[in-house]
This record gives sequence, C-alpha cells and structure tokens, in this order.
Amino acid sequence: MNRRDRPKVIANFAITADGKVSTRNHTPATFTSPRDKQRLLEIRATADAILVGRNTIATDTMSMTLRDRALQARRRAKGLPAQPLRVIVSNRGDLDPSWKVFQSPGARRIVFSTVRMPEATRQALLPHCDLHLLDAKTIPIEDVLSALRGIYDIRTVLCEGGPTLLRSLIEIDALDLLHLTVAPIVFGGKKAPTLTGTKPGFLRSIAHFHLESLRVIAGECFLRYRAIRQ
Ligand SMILES: NC(=O)c1ccc[n+]([C@@H]2O[C@H](COP(=O)([O-])OP(=O)(O)OC[C@H]3O[C@@H](n4cnc5c(N)ncnc54)[C@H](OP(=O)(O)O)[C@@H]3O)[C@@H](O)[C@H]2O)c1
Repeated sequence: MNRRDRPKVIANFAITADGKVSTRNHTPATFTSPRDKQRLLEIRATADAILVGRNTIATDTMSMTLRDRALQARRRAKGLPAQPLRVIVSNRGDLDPSWKVFQSPGARRIVFSTVRMPEATRQALLPHCDLHLLDAKTIPIEDVLSALRGIYDIRTVLCEGGPTLLRSLIEIDALDLLHLTVAPIVFGGKKAPTLTGTKPGFLRSIAHFHLESLRVIAGECFLRYRAIRQ
C-alpha cells in the first residue's frame, strides 16, 4: 500500500519477558506499571485516531479516551481536537452498544465492519458511531487505513491492539513505529498470544525494525522500533 494513501501507523504494546501480550484466557493487559500506563496516554496524545480490534475492546473494557487534562491542553495548543478519534474494527460485527467505549463521552467513534453485522446491532450502534459496513466477509485493513486518510484526514493512527489487528497491519507492511514495554514477568503458555497473536503460521515475510530508543526504568524496558523497508 502506498504510504501517501494511508496514515502513519504507530502501535503500542506491553509484553512479558517471554513475549506474551496476554494469558491463554485472553485476560486484560494490566501487567505493567502506572508509569507505563501514563506513557501509553502520552503516545495516545500524539495520534489523530486510536485503532483497536473487537476483542481488545471486549476484554479490556476500554473507553479509548484521553482524559488527562494536561495532555488535552497540549493537543489543543497544537490546533488538534482534545481527543483522538476512536476507531474499532470487527469482521463479524458482534459489538455491544452498552460497552464503555460506546457510552463514555469523548471523541467521535468510527466502526468498520462487514455486512455480516446483524441488523439489530447496526440499528443499536448507529446513534453512537459512524458505521462503515463493507460488502465482504473480512475487512481488508488497507481499506480501513485509506478511509481514515481519505474520509477523516487522519495523519497518524495508533494501534492499541490486539495482536490479531497488529498482525494484519504488519502483513501489509503498514506498521511504521512500534512502542514496546517489556515487563519483568513471565506468563508461559503455548496458547498465550504474542505480539502477532496465536496463528501458527509465519508472516509472509519477515518484518524488520531498527531499535531507535531503549530506556530501563524500575525494571521495565521501554523500546521504540522503527520499520525498515527494504
Ligand atoms: N499487552 C498488550 O499491550 C495488549 C494490547 C491489546 C490487547 N491485548 C490483549 O490481546 C487479547 C486479544 O487478542 P486478539 O488478537 O483477539 O485482539 P484483537 O485484535 O483486538 O481482536 C481480534 C478481533 O478483532 C477484529 N479484527 C482484528 N483485526 C481485524 C482486521 N484486520 N480486520 C477486521 N477485523 C479485525 C476481529 O473481530 P471479529 O471476530 O468480530 O471479526 C478479530 O476477531 C486480549 O487479552 C487483550 O487484553 C494486549
């Protein structure tokens, strides 16, 4: 996909020392420190939109908001809206309008799904979001990126998970910057997802990154990787 047709894509993930983003039961990703949570908000504040997959919304009960007043003020000073747009992707469209993300005040919500979304869900979601339903079984993630750029003028999007969504971005070579926090714990578990989820297959091609920054604070390792394009 041509870089001009999509936003810059940033991702932020926390992983354990054995490379897991969650347990095999897909429990919420709450294993890092308050410092890491604040860092996530600071990264969130740099984006025009936050992009999240259906299961992460369901598991982590996210509101996808930026409530920190100082960070909101910093955005306003740059001429940006106080909060980034909230973007959710789901092929099946099994989304519940009572979820926190649909009930909490904040920026506009945009849902990308397919015609598989049940009619009742469509009607229930419509008051809460812009609904884009593709006539396909699964959503090509490049269509989401080009719609974000073309319709919403999104220049920078932050993927906050989960691993299935991240994998789809890496597979089309659309991940530009990866923020990783390595927590000093080990989960184990063959079925616990890594950064690219639980799919057994390798990526079609190896994704290469350059380590741009590394900081160790109170046992946690904060890394920033930039994609290298061959
Ligand atoms: N450690 C961390 O930093 C971190 C960050 C985020 C999440 N997590 C953890 O990751 C786990 C969830 O993993 P997951 O891989 O299932 O999460 P996910 O990527 O958020 O959700 C997967 C679902 O999202 C939709 N989806 C993902 N990519 C899509 C794409 N390209 N196009 C259309 N729909 C797409 C699909 O929904 P449908 O099934 O509706 O089609 C898919 O089944 C949770 O335990 C969560 O806590 C950890």
